[in-house]
Formats: sequence, C-alpha cells, structure tokens
Amino acid sequence: ARIFTSGFGGRRPLVPCAPEALEHAAQASMTRRAWAYIAGGAGLERTAAANRAAFDHYRILQRMLRDVSERKLAVELFGRIMPLPVLLAPIGVLGMAHREADLAAARAAAAEGLTFITSSQASYPMEAVASACAGSPRWFQLYWSARDEVAASFLRRAETAGYEAIVVTLDTTQLGWRPRDLDGGYLPFLHGRGIANYVSDPAFCALPPPAADPSERPALGLRSLPAVVELLRSWPQGMLRALSSPTAVVQAVQQFVAGYSRPDLTWDDLPRLRQMTSLPILVKGILHPDDACKALEAGMDGIIVSNHGGRQVDGAVASLDMLPAVVEAIGGRIPVLFDSGIRTGSDVIKALALGARAVLLGRPYIYGLALGGEAGVRAVLQALAADLDLTLALMGCRSVHELNRSVLVEPHGIG
Ligand code: FNR
Repeated sequence: ARIFTSGFGGRRPLVPCAPEALEHAAQASMTRRAWAYIAGGAGLERTAAANRAAFDHYRILQRMLRDVSERKLAVELFGRIMPLPVLLAPIGVLGMAHREADLAAARAAAAEGLTFITSSQASYPMEAVASACAGSPRWFQLYWSARDEVAASFLRRAETAGYEAIVVTLDTTQLGWRPRDLDGGYLPFLHGRGIANYVSDPAFCALPPPAADPSERPALGLRSLPAVVELLRSWPQGMLRALSSPTAVVQAVQQFVAGYSRPDLTWDDLPRLRQMTSLPILVKGILHPDDACKALEAGMDGIIVSNHGGRQVDGAVASLDMLPAVVEAIGGRIPVLFDSGIRTGSDVIKALALGARAVLLGRPYIYGLALGGEAGVRAVLQALAADLDLTLALMGCRSVHELNRSVLVEPHGIG
C-alpha cells in the first residue's frame, strides 16, 4: 500500500515497477558481459521467451463483493511460516551485478522476512552469506560436483552455518549452450566470481591439481584479473589465504572448471545424497511428472519445477506448462515449488492456482541488485509483494490458500 500511495504523491519508486523498465534500467547500469550472462539464455532463447508466454495461456477470473479488507499471503514450508509465497532463487556469480553480491541480496531478503537460497557458485562463502541473513531463513543450493567429497563438505558447512534446506539442482550437470557468453569469451571471468564456496572449502583445496596438459586447462582472461582479485580481497580475512596471488586464482578457477561437470549422475545416486544430510532436500529442475515421482521415491522432500530460466535447453517446454502435471503426479505428498518466468503478482497467483506452494524469483531481483544493491533488491521484493496483495484483493480472494484452478480460465487452450 505504501508503494502504491507514494505514487499518488508523485514520488517515483527506487527502481522501476514495470518489469521491462526494470530490465532496461538494469541493462544500462551493467557491463555488457554482465548483462549477457544474467539476461541471456540457451541457444536462440526460445525457452526463456516461452516461460513468459506460458502465463498468457491462463487468465484470472475475478469475483466481486467478497470483503477482502484482510488478506493472508503467508504459506508454510518445512515447518516455517513464510510471510510471502516467494523465495529468492539461487543465483551464481552475483558479483557480476554488484560488489556486495549475495551479501546485499541476503540482507534484503532478511529485511523482508523472505528465504534466500545461496548458490553453490555464490560470490561470497556460504558462511558469510548466512551471517548476512541474520536470523532469517536460508537454504543452500548444491551443484553436485564431480567429487562427492566436495558435495559432502558443502552440505556439512551448510548445516553448520544454519541453512535449513538443501536445493540440489539437477538440470545443470553441465552448463547449457549460451551463445552470448560463448561469443564474448566471458565464462572464465564469470567463474572467477563464482568460486567463493570452493576456494574456502577444505575438501576442494585438498583435491589433486587439475590436468597437467595446459591445452586442457581453461584460460582466464587477463583483463578480468584486477576485478577478480579485488573481489577476492573483499572476502572475510583469513578465509582465502590460498588465493593471495592472481596465479593462485587462475589455478583455483581451473580446478573448479575441471570438477564442475557431473553428467554421470543417475537416480541411483540420490539415496547417497539423502545419507549425506538430515536437512530437507528439494530437487530443482524437474519438468517431467515421472521424474517428480522418482524424486519422491528417492526420499526427496520437495520438488522445484524449473527450466533454469531457459538457460539450459533451448526449445525446452515452458516451466509453467509442466506445473499442473507435476502437481497432479505428486498429489500433495511433498511441496511443489515453481520458477522460471515470474515477473508480476499475477504470475505468482497463476503458479499458486496451478498448485505451486511457493515460487522462486530469479532475474528481477538481480536487476534490483544491479541498480541499488540491498535497497534495490528490497524495492523489487516490496513491489512484487504489493502487486500480489493488490491483485489478490481485486480478484476477490482473502488468502493465497483460496487459489486453485477455479480462479483461472484458459481462453486459448494449452499447447
Ligand atoms: C541462475 N540460476 C541458477 N540456478 C541454480 O540452481 N544455481 C545457480 O547458481 C544459478 N545461477 C543463475 C545465474 C543467473 C544469472 C540466472 C539468471 C539464473 C537459475 C535460477 O535459480 C532460476 O531457476 C531462474 O533464474 C528462474 O527464472 P527467472 O525468474 O530468472 O525467469
């Protein structure tokens, strides 16, 4: 309400409310390569576009005169009451958008009482991000690296740092074909900003050195070194003694790249992950209802329907299009969450009406971060909350729990 009424007073919000204007403003504030990495998707970016278009399959059917003076937006997840059905998606390499990266985003989430999901590829070590979350809930996202001992070590650290759930991302056992990044030769630079958890990890540091053959080792662009070194210097004292020189940084990046890819994982590996932690585990990147059932059978505690914001498989089905089938297959036995394409309050409403317990917000909060650090992220989150609250009221609902298929119509059918 505050955001809405301040508009009447002629005051502009800190960051644009209109999703496209937010994107444009963020683009103007970023380097070309940061924009390419953050906004980009796989291939021709058809899936990134499809993620947005899928929301147009559904229209909201509002009802009148239902006393909506009080609205409830809170949902429960793993015993925690969350004030909004929105979490901050795990985003790697946030140092591309803002110097304070994950720390600023985590502080913003905490200030709004929302759950922050720290990426394996955060720009700051997970312990520092956990401190930035203060008392607020945080989850840790795991990229299951080629070495089990590194994954196990990450999980131990996450438990010690007070993370309350693990999100294991299944759709990125290898990085997707992303022409914008490939053409710009940006990837090595990015990795330099996404290895904080690795270089601060005892199991990672104990790994044998990567390939001796120099042609097998990825190059780290010289131009990027000053920025990487500056970022590393800003990390907590004592944590990264091993990275005192640019050469050490280059070696760590090479080690990281060598251990990143894990294409040999199968469903038989999930029980091993289950053994590694007592925290709830959610699998992220599920699109097929049969995969959702396999995850449930493997003892997973939650599903995140996602296609990684269209960054992995170009031409993949839109994430929203598969949500109803996954929800039906799971039948309420574990929570189903959703991401890929959420931009507005009505998007959140549609995902919840199709059976998602909550949604993850990706790129929009990165744009807020680029524009205004912690305050920018808060502004984006507050605008989404206000939009959601207002839309819920205008459609005649008092609570997000009233949302189901009956509030949606499909004027064009699906497909
Ligand atoms: C991501 N995403 C992601 N996912 C994950 O599990 N681990 C990660 O490190 C990252 N890193 C990452 C970086 C950037 C720049 C983007 C845009 C996305 C995927 C993310 O968690 C989420 O699935 C999508 O961003 C959701 O789509 P929207 O909201 O961006 O459309």
